[in-house]
Amino acid sequence: MTKHQIPNTKYQTLNTSHPLIELINVDIFYGSMQVLFSISLRVFQGELICLLGGNASGKSSTLKTILGICKPSKGRVLLNGQDTGKLKTRDVISKGVSIVPENRRIFPHMTVLENLEMGAYLRNDREEIRKDMENIFDLFPILRERSLKQGITLSGGEQQMLAMGRALLSRPSLLLMDEPSMGLSPRLVDQQFEIIQKVNSMGTAVLMVEQNASMALSIADRGYVLQTGSVVIEGNAEELINDPMMQEAYLGGGDGDV
Ligand SMILES: Nc1ncnc2c1ncn2[C@@H]1O[C@H](COP(=O)(O)OP(=O)(O)OP(=O)(O)O)[C@@H](O)[C@H]1O
Ligand SMILES: [Mg+2]
Repeated sequence: MTKHQIPNTKYQTLNTSHPLIELINVDIFYGSMQVLFSISLRVFQGELICLLGGNASGKSSTLKTILGICKPSKGRVLLNGQDTGKLKTRDVISKGVSIVPENRRIFPHMTVLENLEMGAYLRNDREEIRKDMENIFDLFPILRERSLKQGITLSGGEQQMLAMGRALLSRPSLLLMDEPSMGLSPRLVDQQFEIIQKVNSMGTAVLMVEQNASMALSIADRGYVLQTGSVVIEGNAEELINDPMMQEAYLGGGDGDV
């Protein structure tokens, strides 16, 4: 498959340092089945990047590769320039990567507060954790109100906030988000995307997996499109939105879904 690459002047001129995360020609297998084919992808400090693609195109596997859950059989993953080949997932997390997983996956029978505390489990700076917790409660006031309730009692939108709050409590420099709009009403999707933009504007780089291409591109700086495990299109958001191939394959049909 030939990659359709849109020239991207913004990140080439703005980012002269090395990327926060860089995948270079990465192949991933589950057993004998190859799911990622020579993936190359970069996220720089402060960027908001979307990773688009249909079902089973390899989006979640790409995030698992960044977290060190999947290990490349070929290619390299660099975190702040350091090869993560030998790192365990907990080491990757302690070096500043955090995830809001697909379907949120909060701990249903732990309280909101306990769920949030889990996000800080690799930290031991009690006073700073307390301050961060307050910041999370300011960002999501409903979580303060519900702090002693079990996770399972929260609505889908509230669980999404909890999953995000938990991810932020590890103080990530890179936040991975796997389909944040999934299962949310249009109003909550809008709210969710506003929160992602806010978190990003406060300095956290975000790599967001989405099937809702038009929504994702409306807030992203750049995007990558995966098809059956290969990056087929990449470029900055505005150019992706206006690109005829994107329009036809991913943004047509009026609903904007990939
Ligand atoms: N643990 C696993 N073991 C074996 N195969 C897997 C595993 N996880 C994913 N796969 C397969 O890898 C391929 C890519 O899956 P992945 O979850 O990365 O796709 P995705 O783009 O996130 O899809 P979706 O939009 O449905 O979440 C699929 O064919 C899937 O069946
Ligand atoms: Mg997925």
